[in-house]
Amino acid sequence: MSDISRRKFLQTTSASAVLFLSGLSRDGNTAPPKGYPSKKIGNIKNLKVNEPLAFNYPDDKSPCLLVKVENEAVGGVGPGKSIVSFSALCTHMGCPLTYSKGRLVCKCHYSMFDVALNGQTYQGLASQWVAQIVLRLDAATGNIYAEGVEGLIYGRIGNLKLS
Ligand code: FES
Repeated sequence: MSDISRRKFLQTTSASAVLFLSGLSRDGNTAPPKGYPSKKIGNIKNLKVNEPLAFNYPDDKSPCLLVKVENEAVGGVGPGKSIVSFSALCTHMGCPLTYSKGRLVCKCHYSMFDVALNGQTYQGLASQWVAQIVLRLDAATGNIYAEGVEGLIYGRIGNLKLS
């Protein structure tokens, strides 16, 4: 391979890697994958700080939590961008997560996830961030809709596939 073709190859593969990684970004700058249902999951009037609401998304076998936290959260909607939502299945082995003071907590092996930071894991055996539900707030009605998932829900090969 000549120097020019090697350089061209490296430039092409580097650009491809950047595009691939940016597609997996959870910074909110990329649109969620297509095919997700739009589902009303609550209303801003019914949310109280640190009192999560349970719902299922994108199907009935996927438990999730919607919560208004005290401060701004990445991916948050509503006043102060403080309303966020996550899968309620731990990314380690699928145990149920409960919400406590800004964290999602797994009682099986003590993993914890930060709801203000995209569900980043910071303690315990889980190494993967918990999947975040993409939300949309209808400002006219206060209704909150789930419209996508960022990250992979535990136990799935795709968020819209059960196995
Ligand atoms: S299943 Fe949650 S830490 Fe193991």
